[in-house]
Parts: sequence; C-alpha cells; structure tokens
Amino acid sequence: MKRVYLKTFGCQMNEYDSERMLALLREEYVPCAQPEEADLILVNTCSVRKKAEEKVYSLVGRFKHLKSRRPEVVVGVCGCVAQQEGERLVKRLPHVDLVLGPRTVFRIREALQEIEAGRGPVVWVELDTDWSPPLPTPSENGRPVKAFVTIMQGCDNFCSYCVVPYVRGREVSRPPEEILREVECLVAQGVREITLLGQNVNSYGRKERGFPTFAELLRLISEIEGLWRLRFTTSHPKDLSEDLMRAFAELEKLCEHLHLPVQSGSSRILHLMNRKYTREEYLEKVRRLREMAPEVALTTDIIVGFPGETEEDFRQTLTLLEEVRYQEIFSFKYSDRPFARARDFPEKVPEEVKAARLEEVHRLQARITEEIYRSYIGRKEEILVEGRSERNPLLWTGRTRTNLVVNFSAPEGLDLKGALVHVLIKDTGKHSLRGEYVRTLKGP
Ligand code: 5AD
Ligand code: SF4
Repeated sequence: MKRVYLKTFGCQMNEYDSERMLALLREEYVPCAQPEEADLILVNTCSVRKKAEEKVYSLVGRFKHLKSRRPEVVVGVCGCVAQQEGERLVKRLPHVDLVLGPRTVFRIREALQEIEAGRGPVVWVELDTDWSPPLPTPSENGRPVKAFVTIMQGCDNFCSYCVVPYVRGREVSRPPEEILREVECLVAQGVREITLLGQNVNSYGRKERGFPTFAELLRLISEIEGLWRLRFTTSHPKDLSEDLMRAFAELEKLCEHLHLPVQSGSSRILHLMNRKYTREEYLEKVRRLREMAPEVALTTDIIVGFPGETEEDFRQTLTLLEEVRYQEIFSFKYSDRPFARARDFPEKVPEEVKAARLEEVHRLQARITEEIYRSYIGRKEEILVEGRSERNPLLWTGRTRTNLVVNFSAPEGLDLKGALVHVLIKDTGKHSLRGEYVRTLKGP
C-alpha cells in the first residue's frame, strides 16, 4: 500500500470533501501523519480570507525539498485556492503535479492515473462540470457518531467581499434521493447526528425543478429511523423563511442551533456588502424565530473594517451583538479577495483600526458568551457522547443540542460513546461546560 498525507484547511465542506477523497483512495493508499512519509501529498485549501490563502502557499512551498529528494512523490493542491489560482499555481510552484477545484476533487483517481501515465501536471478547474459526491464507505476504525452531508454546492449571492461564488461556482443542489440515501447509509454505519452542509442551505432546490424546499428536505431526513439529531449550516438571513423557523418548533430531531451570519450591524455597510437585508429586517427575523422557537441558540459571523466602515457603523455592530446576544461569534478583519467587488472600493480601513475593532468585538462577545455559558449551570442537558475528552481521558465529551461542548464525569465501567445521555451542568470553562452524568436516554 502507498501512503497519502492529506491536510485540510477551511470549512466543513472541505472536511467532507477530504473524507470522501480518502475513501476514494482507500484501495491504494493508507493515510499517514507526516508529509515526509507520503507517496501522495494533498492539501485541501481555503481562500475565503487572505490569511487562509497565505497558509496554503507557505505549506505547499515547504514540500519543494521533499519533491527534490523523491521526485516520484505526487503533490496535489485541491479546493478553493486550487480553483482560484488554476494554472498559476503550477507556474508559481513547479513541484505541484495536481490542481483540482471543489467541483473536480472527486475525480482524484482519474487525475492520478493521468499523472502516472506521464501526462502531468493535471490542472482541472472547470466549474460547469458534473459534481456528485461518492457514497460514504465504512471506515476501518469505525464511524464517529456524527457526520457531514453536503447537500448543495456554490453560491449565487455575490456578497461584495466574498470569493466563494468564483471558486465554488453557481448554486447546484443534489437530488433529494441521493441525500436521503447518503444519510441512510451513514446511519447504517452507526452515525447518529448529521449536519447538512452548503454555502446557503436555505435556497436548497430553488433552481431545480421538482426538488423539495429546504424545510421539506429537513422533514424527509428527520423521518429516517436511527438518526437522532439533525443540524445544518450555513443560512443566509434573507432566505430564512417562516417555514424553516417552524421546522425548529416542529421537528424533534432538529437541534436548537442556528448559525445566521449577520456580517455587520449597520444597514449602510450591509448594503455595500450586497447582503440584501437591513439591520431592522435581520432583527425582525431573529425576533420572529425566537417567538416560534425560543430555545434556538444563535451564532454568527462578523466582518470588521469593511471598506468605508466608520466608527458609527462599527458601533452599530456592537449594539447588534448586545441586542441579539449570540451564544458565540466568529469575527474577522476584512481582507481583499480576488474577483470580489469590494476589492475596488475606496476608503480601505487601516490595519490597526481593524485590529482594534476586532479586539473590541472579542471583548464584548467574551462577556456575553460567558453569561450564556453560566446560565447553563444547574440545568440538565441532553448530550450526544462523542467519546473520551482528548484533554482529560477521565472525562467524556459531547455537545448539547445548542451545540456547546460539554465535558463530564461518569461512573467507571460505563461505555458511553454514541449514547444520548442527560448531564447535569456544574461549571463553565472558556470554550466548554463541565458536568456530571445523570442517566442514559438512548443507546449506545
Ligand atoms: N474578509 C473577511 N472576512 C470574510 N469572510 C468572507 N469573506 C471575507 C473577507 N473578504 C467571512 C464572512 C463569512 C465567513 C465564512 O468568512 O464572515 O461569513
Ligand atoms: Fe460568500 Fe455571501 Fe455566498 Fe456566503 S452568501 S458564500 S458570504 S457570497
């Protein structure tokens, strides 16, 4: 058997793609932990922010000396940077043999055959190509209790800061039968929790004739027996429908967590971002959602220092954070991306101002997150146990339905992996809760 080293950057869609690539290679390659040991080196890349892209170039650059020592090693770059750079990548880094975009990654075996036949380097970055993930195959060391399922690819929204529509192409949805078959297959392998993935899952099936809506798809999936929990990400606020809000209230398996990226609290900046909603419209949707499903925990993404963002615009982001009280946020300094319109916007915000604003967002959110974490103390929470805690193997670890990590103690002799249990929350950490096992509800 040959060896493959695969490093994944970026979002959950990349994690999903990487897992499926390894499955496709399984007959010939075993995964290894160090690039020095590998016959095939693959880097699955992210270009959503400048920093992510820089990491890719520095890592792939380091493989040059490996290749000069062992020219038979195949070096491949996949995913969004591969798509963005295309031929440029092999020009800039001549030791790269293989460039596959997000729509062509599943043709990895065919690409390797081309290289073996001496027809490399292979650069496949078509966007208007058939894209269809392979079914999951059982892995040797058993399935984790949770898994991702990509239900759509690409984005049609063209937010002015974003590279995604250019590297993942236009929105395409997978047929519902395929998605259902994939979920059933994972559940048969022992998976209990599924997270549906897409850049904008709310618009699932909108372009395809006869496809269910996203809310209908959730209903279909939640009927699969043996599946205990269902999640999804990411949603665009403009497409958050009443029907989807109702799903949170009605579908027992659908977990009470919604990632709803707001990006900015200023309607003026939201307009420049081409987000197609105002601060008021966003807040109204949050209000309505909380009315229909009060338990839903919200998380979001924030960009600080978008071109033209004034001190006043930024204050509005802070007041929005206070108003919504997200459980957690992911915040980023704006960076110019290739193809994205905002690259040409004047009034770029100086780096030190962006850094100061980011710091202020962090400080405010840390307080809110801590208050929310504290409110869990004394509560009995349903946890799906993922296994032993890596930090402290005496503890078990899993997540609440609202997606918070809980580490907890349990009587010796219980094997809880894959079980649904009640845990009494006793304390909080910075990124997790601490608790004690109460009883098993289901499984393992
Ligand atoms: N600069 C900074 N952050 C960005 N994001 C996307 N593009 C940019 C950019 N050019 C952030 C958004 C998005 C998240 C995945 O990454 O907040 O929701
Ligand atoms: Fe990018 Fe906007 Fe599409 Fe999200 S919705 S992937 S931020 S263009």
